[in-house]
Amino acid sequence: MKSYDIAVIGGDGTGPEVTREALKVSEAAAQKFGFKLNWHHYDFGGDRYLKTGEVLPDSAIEELRKYKAIYLGAVGHPQVKPGILEKGILLRLRFELEQYINLRPVRLYRPQDCPIKDKGPEHVDFIVVRENNEGLYAGAGGNLFKGTPHEVAIQESINTRRGTDRCLKYAFELAKKRRDAKPWKGLKAEDTAAGKTAQLTLCGKTNVLTYAWDLWFRNFNELAPKYPTVKTDYAHVDAICMWFVKNPEWFDVIVTDNMFGDIITDLAAMIQGGLGVAAGGNINPEGTSMFEPMGGSAPKYTGLNVINPLAAINAAGMMLDFLGEAKAGAAIENAAIQIINTKIQSLAAGKMGHGTKEIGDLVAAVV
Ligand code: IPM
Ligand code: MN
Repeated sequence: MKSYDIAVIGGDGTGPEVTREALKVSEAAAQKFGFKLNWHHYDFGGDRYLKTGEVLPDSAIEELRKYKAIYLGAVGHPQVKPGILEKGILLRLRFELEQYINLRPVRLYRPQDCPIKDKGPEHVDFIVVRENNEGLYAGAGGNLFKGTPHEVAIQESINTRRGTDRCLKYAFELAKKRRDAKPWKGLKAEDTAAGKTAQLTLCGKTNVLTYAWDLWFRNFNELAPKYPTVKTDYAHVDAICMWFVKNPEWFDVIVTDNMFGDIITDLAAMIQGGLGVAAGGNINPEGTSMFEPMGGSAPKYTGLNVINPLAAINAAGMMLDFLGEAKAGAAIENAAIQIINTKIQSLAAGKMGHGTKEIGDLVAAVV
């Protein structure tokens, strides 16, 4: 029987609670599809930091590097200064393990979870490919004259040929693959006649950030001819914020940089029903990838059995898909869809009509 070793960092706040349900549902899928999951738990997070002063030792990075997948619940602790755990655990792993893609599927499962009038599941079904190792997140910059009236703060956006190239290639490949069997419905007749099956939108700011987005844009257009089935499109980041709300059906696959990706995926999460269902993967296609629900540690809900575990469950589905268990991944998402449509009142914490654990049980039962 195939077996997979997976590192698990439950983390802070409600992280461990939702992780428990994600693992439970993964186990149900493993049983059904005939593979074995070996979980290896790590206690990195706020509590350990407060006890020992240690965020993530170098040896841990080397140990985690041995896995193909890491499952992460959430980081962020009310007694720890903001930034320490986010930078020290989440961003450090993304960078050191070269998880250069942040993948965020945006799919609405039923109309009533969408805050936009007259939009249903047929209108909200796209995926964002966020560059995950560069841009403003690279940490380049510094201060001069700190604390004086002459203080200067510099925060630079780093964009490299290699970094944009591998991110764009991943996005083109994904756009192509995702629509091989089932062409995207948003294409115009003339695009279909020209052999297009998918659309890839570059989301940038070519009109103002002329150095970085010139590199992205040139690279995008250089790669496009290699993917004749992918229709290319460009949108400014501010305009995309309007269109996500007004016409989410205009999008199939979107590729963007780290900072814009961070912002537009929070907006996108809201139109798919909120952080209760939004999941993401930090992908290194050749190395160690890490899967996580998009929401944070939600400390005020800790231990109350009220947080929605579906985002965590969906992240587990993405992980199994990434590991090569595509059927198990799809079965988890379909089970979540079934439970949302038959058993759940609202996707918001405390308003679901069931507890965290009960939702895990319900989904696990129909995987
Ligand atoms: C996300 C989060 C992180 C980010 C934070 C917690 C550092 O918002 O995964 O989108 O900014 O990338
Ligand atoms: Mn974010």
